[in-house]
Amino acid sequence: MKTIDQIKITNKKVFLRVDFNVPLKGGEVADDTRIRSTLPTIRYAQQQGARVILASHLGRPKGERRPEFSLAPVARRLGTLLGQEVSLAPDCIGPEVEAMVDNLAPGQVLLLENLRFHPGETENSPEFAQALARLAEVYVNDAFAVCHRAHASVVGVPALLEEKAAGFLLAREVRYLSRLVSAPESPVSMVVGGAKVSTKIGVLRNLLPKLDKLLIGGAMANTFLKAQGFKTGRSFVEEEFLEEARRILQEAETAGVKVYLPLDVVVAEDKEGSWVETVSIRDVPAVKAIYDIGPQTIKYFAQALKGQGTIVFNGPLGLFENEIFAQGTFQLARIIATSNAVTICGGGDTLRALKQAGVATAYSYLSTGGGAFLEFLEGKSLPGIEVLN
Ligand code: 3PG
Repeated sequence: MKTIDQIKITNKKVFLRVDFNVPLKGGEVADDTRIRSTLPTIRYAQQQGARVILASHLGRPKGERRPEFSLAPVARRLGTLLGQEVSLAPDCIGPEVEAMVDNLAPGQVLLLENLRFHPGETENSPEFAQALARLAEVYVNDAFAVCHRAHASVVGVPALLEEKAAGFLLAREVRYLSRLVSAPESPVSMVVGGAKVSTKIGVLRNLLPKLDKLLIGGAMANTFLKAQGFKTGRSFVEEEFLEEARRILQEAETAGVKVYLPLDVVVAEDKEGSWVETVSIRDVPAVKAIYDIGPQTIKYFAQALKGQGTIVFNGPLGLFENEIFAQGTFQLARIIATSNAVTICGGGDTLRALKQAGVATAYSYLSTGGGAFLEFLEGKSLPGIEVLN
C-alpha cells in the first residue's frame, strides 16, 4: 500500500476520502477527534500544492438530502482547525461541484456535501462512483473508520483512478493494528466489555491464540457468568449465546489463556440506580440487574494487568453514562493508561469513556475506528484497504 508521500500530487486534483462522521450537538461538532486525526494528511496535501477535494459521509441519511446530516458544521470546525475558511460544496457530484473543483487553486481545500445524500454511495453504484471519480485525478483514503464498508467512495472511486494511496492516518492505523494482530509485545491482555458477546465473538476467536489473559466486564460478562451457572437476576443476558460463551471459555482454556470474570458487581433495580448495592456474583438478587464491576473486581483486574507487554481495551465495563456505574470503566481506563504496556483502544464508547476519565492522551494508540477496528481485529480484510493494495 503506497502512502500519500509516495505519489505525485502537486497541482493534481486529489479526492481525499476522510471519515468526518462525528457527533453533533446543537448544530456544532461535539467531538472533533476524527477531524483532527486527518489534519496531517490534509496539511501535507496542501503543502504539496494539491487541489484538495475532501469527501465524507455523516450519519445515515439513507440516500436522502436531510439538512440535519449536512457537513456544514464540519466545514466550520475544519476551517477553525486549519486557520482558513473551508468552502462546502452544495452537493458531492454534478456540474456545479465540478466547476468549483476546477476553480480550486493549488493548496486550496473544498469539502463536498455528505456522500450519503445519494443512495449510490452505500449501494456502490457504478454511475455514482463515476460521477465522483470525474472530479479528481488522484485518490487518497484517510478514512480508516469506514474501510469496512464497500461503498462507492471507499472502493468504487479508487477502482476507477489509476493513482491511489493511503493517507497518514490510515497508514498509521494499519501499522499499529497489524502489529497487534501479528506480532504484539507479549504478554498480551485484552480487556473487553460492552453489551453484547455476539458483536465480539469474531474478535475473541481471532485474538485468543495471541492472548495470555482475557478480562471480561460490561453486560457481556453477564452472559459468561450465566453460562457458568451464576444467577444474574434481571441483568441483560444474551440467552442465545450461552453455548457460544461456554465454547469460548473452553477454547481459552485449551489455548492456555487465563480468563478473568467479575468477582463482585454493582447491582440496582434500574439503570437510574435505584436501590444500588455491591454484591458478590454469588449473591445477585433476583429483582436487580448488574450495571458495573465491583471494587474487588477492579483490584483483581488491576493485579492481572501488571507486567503486560500489550493491553487492548474495547468496550466499557459498566453503564458509565450514569456516574453511579462509571467506576469500573474509569478506574480500569486509568490503570491501563498508567501501565508500561503498549496500550491500544478502539470503539466510540470506549474512547468517550477514556476522555471522560481524562486519560485518553496517555494511551499508546487510539483507533478512530468502531466497526472497522473490530473487523480488523477479527482478521477480516477490509475492502477499503484491499483496493489500495
Ligand atoms: C463509523 O462511525 O464507524 C463509520 O463512520 C462508519 O459508519 P457506518 O457504521 O454508518 O457505516
